[in-house]
Amino acid sequence: MEPSLESAVEVRSYLGPADERTLAEDVLDGLTRPLKELPPKHLYDARGSELFDAICELPEYYQTRTERLILRTEADAIVARTGAVELVELGSGSADKTRVLLDAMNHAGTLRRYVPVDVSETTLRAAAATLVGDYPGLSVHGVVGDFERHLGHLPEPLHRRLFAFLGGTIGNFPPGSRRRFLRRLRKVMSPDDHLLLGTDLVKDPQVLEAAYNDSAGVTARFNLNVLHVLNRELGANFDVDRFEHVAFFDRKREWIEMRLRATEQQHVRVQALELDVDFAPREELRTEISAKFTPERLREDLRAAGLRLTELYTDPDELFAVSLSGQG
Ligand code: SAH
Ligand code: TRP
Repeated sequence: MEPSLESAVEVRSYLGPADERTLAEDVLDGLTRPLKELPPKHLYDARGSELFDAICELPEYYQTRTERLILRTEADAIVARTGAVELVELGSGSADKTRVLLDAMNHAGTLRRYVPVDVSETTLRAAAATLVGDYPGLSVHGVVGDFERHLGHLPEPLHRRLFAFLGGTIGNFPPGSRRRFLRRLRKVMSPDDHLLLGTDLVKDPQVLEAAYNDSAGVTARFNLNVLHVLNRELGANFDVDRFEHVAFFDRKREWIEMRLRATEQQHVRVQALELDVDFAPREELRTEISAKFTPERLREDLRAAGLRLTELYTDPDELFAVSLSGQG
């Protein structure tokens, strides 16, 4: 019997009521600190994921097109070098750039399975459905979950795997958690598996700041969307119009910091938590950092996690880097 397209896709979700608790705990923890803060994963509900895809198309946001260019140039070499039959992708999103890697594996005749891991279930399901249609014979095993907590749920490896973590998402971890995350990732990797990591590079602060302050205001809408998430999921009453998007390059720490600033004094009630939160005029809430890398920082972070950097691919303007590392 011909396998139907559906049978080529399997999606398992590890998010459940426990994760509503995660949001609640993160909010309780983050909004009661002297410097208010929220973890970035809550930015990516269905609307947030759509807005992120729109960010990737912005003229100021050079990351996506630059990373795609690097992948196009190097994909065949990456596939030859890793011998991967399986692509595991963390924070896969719409899996658009992923196609460059899948194409190269396809041409090499090694492509067997794609394993996307993402917290955004709608986005993951849509990507999985499109890919099985476009790559006959490909099986997709989707993991809807948190890559900080659910890496233990990856399917048993078929053979050599390439782990891809693209888009500079690694930069959204603060330095300590970044190394902890890489170490955990290394522990789930088999000795013959490789990690393909996309990192944004340190550069002219004006170029960096423009990428997070686009003139069309899409990044602002994306950032502000997290307040809609809190209003909807936790019965909060943030007046979204009385917050503004702030993004700047912290030159000492070499990261972009994204914040939401209350334009005036504001009292917010988070019903589900029976929590009252006050914002002073111009008080800020940190929603994300996006660390920028030098080759040295990258090599050291990988080394601290037990990974050895074997290739560093970049574009002619050295805006972005894609690195390959392994345990050997
Ligand atoms: N890889 C894509 C998308 C990057 S955006 C690209 O390069 O363009 C970051 C992606 O990671 C989003 O799809 C978001 O839903 C997902 N994500 C963010 N935090 C996550 C977490 N803790 N666990 C799993 N996925 C997460
Ligand atoms: N991983 C992306 C980055 O650091 C995410 C991102 C882009 C983002 N623009 C944003 C997150 C604006 C919050 C707000 O580049």
